[in-house]
Amino acid sequence: MVAQKHDSLEKIEAEVRGCPLCKLARTRKNAVPGEGQLSAKIMFIGEAPGRSEDEKGRPFVGAAGRILDNLLEKAGIERSQVFITNVVKCRPPDNRVPEEDEAAACRPYLDRQIGLIRPKVICILGRTAYTSLLGGSSITANRGKIVEKAGQKYFLTFHPAAAIYNKSLLSALEADLKELAKEMKNEGKSSMEDYL
Ligand code: URA
Ligand code: SF4
Repeated sequence: MVAQKHDSLEKIEAEVRGCPLCKLARTRKNAVPGEGQLSAKIMFIGEAPGRSEDEKGRPFVGAAGRILDNLLEKAGIERSQVFITNVVKCRPPDNRVPEEDEAAACRPYLDRQIGLIRPKVICILGRTAYTSLLGGSSITANRGKIVEKAGQKYFLTFHPAAAIYNKSLLSALEADLKELAKEMKNEGKSSMEDYL
């Protein structure tokens, strides 16, 4: 994805905050564009804002966010150094799964964010992001894997919220994020790009 010349994360953020493009605009309190660095090497993509995110206009700041923060800390990844966003930028009523038309309407924002940031790896959090970005279905069968599509690397793992109800997923998530951190270190070493 090639970024348009005068696009910026700030421009996308402003557009998302006032976006009328799908029916989620009617029920949201605050749109949640995502946050993080333009220079991020990892992008995390979740499903959709929940109640806390809708209140604050920021991604992963509720219960799932606390789990994600913990996982990042354990893996030695700084939250401030990555970019975190979702497949849809507005909260679906009762936290239902985003519908296809909503994900489709919202997709250009995500594509623009990816195009500007050009992350080394996109970390897919859970099935909704897996399906929406890669057409996949079973995260359980594929978590911990890196897949490449159209020149972009993706790392697959569970959604942190899944660990709220199923504690056994927590250790898998921990192992996965540590693996992701390790991959990133290797990237740094093997890639000549960093010296050019
Ligand atoms: N769950 C998500 O998928 N995204 C958030 O931002 C918060 C919870
Ligand atoms: Fe716009 Fe995306 Fe929010 Fe729908 S979910 S209103 S497309 S920002």
